[in-house]
Amino acid sequence: MVKAVRIQHTGGPEVMEYVDVPIGEPGPGEVRVRHHACGLNYIDVYFRTGLYAQPLPAGLGMEAAGVVEAVGSGVGHLRVGDRVAYAGRPVGAYAEARIMPADNIVRLPDSISFDTAAAMMLQGLTVQYLFHRTFPLRGGETILFHAAAGGVGLIACQWARAIGVTMIGTVGSDAKAELAKAHGCAHVINYNTENFVQRVREITGGKGVPVVYDSIGRDTFTGSLDCLSPMGMMVSFGSASGPVPAFSLNELASRGSLFITRPSLMNYTAKREDLEQMAAQLFAMVESGKVKIDIRQRYPLSEVQQAHRDLEARKTTGSTLLIP
Ligand SMILES: NC(=O)c1ccc[n+]([C@@H]2O[C@H](COP(=O)([O-])OP(=O)(O)OC[C@H]3O[C@@H](n4cnc5c(N)ncnc54)[C@H](OP(=O)(O)O)[C@@H]3O)[C@@H](O)[C@H]2O)c1
Repeated sequence: MVKAVRIQHTGGPEVMEYVDVPIGEPGPGEVRVRHHACGLNYIDVYFRTGLYAQPLPAGLGMEAAGVVEAVGSGVGHLRVGDRVAYAGRPVGAYAEARIMPADNIVRLPDSISFDTAAAMMLQGLTVQYLFHRTFPLRGGETILFHAAAGGVGLIACQWARAIGVTMIGTVGSDAKAELAKAHGCAHVINYNTENFVQRVREITGGKGVPVVYDSIGRDTFTGSLDCLSPMGMMVSFGSASGPVPAFSLNELASRGSLFITRPSLMNYTAKREDLEQMAAQLFAMVESGKVKIDIRQRYPLSEVQQAHRDLEARKTTGSTLLIP
């Protein structure tokens, strides 16, 4: 048996129970990983509330780092004792240990600690694909990135600076604005006190930006479209404020033949070779020191309810760990 978080039904943070669950041996193509640290991500909230559906009862959590302690048949790239990490399905990372498909797991370089890995796999791989695959940045662009002081956000600030991109970031408080600036965000807008569309127009001399990375959803969606230059790309990659309501495609035409995509990390890492390349680039970025993974909150896994409350109340900044 191991301790793990389970939900019997969807709802508020109180539906998460810290319980004993059976674990067993890995089957073909699987490994058992003993977790040293688990990552907290906003997607965990979507699964807990039911915005993203899964059969119940269920686990939660999509990211962890630890050590392989048992290997099923047919697994070529992992051995007992390997230091590893993962981000993605199946859901169920909030646990002391778990069985995982080996194909979804990467080995960690010695230079990357368990804590750093658990804090960066999901958020860092996300920045990698957003900046290099969804809308490939070449350097020299000015971009708009919402929630710049969050987990994904602080990595994006540093990554943008590292590749020569001028990032305009939005945040919900002046303290968060300072934090984003300190991580390399060139211009920061407090969207609770400033009109971010107007500010983006001012900063870009009226031109707008070629790409907006929007993880806020409902509250920022229309404003984000208004920040784009003609033929610009709206990357709607999350819904922290609620899902984007239905809208007419004419909204894209009237603003200048805009493009829109709703990407998910799971699609970008579905092929093993893509996952390996993306992880290698993330590890290299962190090893170079250009991106530092800023772990700003840690909770015992048993206090996961409080962690979710703080995340949803916008009290967290940077990355957050749950320690089993
Ligand atoms: N599609 C993908 O592949 C993918 C992958 C990873 C993450 N994501 C998305 O990226 C976003 C960031 O994820 P994260 O784990 O790093 O979380 P996070 O940014 O650390 O936390 C969410 C932030 O969103 C902002 N926010 C704005 N309106 C909010 C509201 N009504 N309720 C709560 N928060 C609100 C808050 O920052 P302010 O106070 O500064 O507004 C809050 O701190 C999430 O939307 C997540 O779903 C998507």
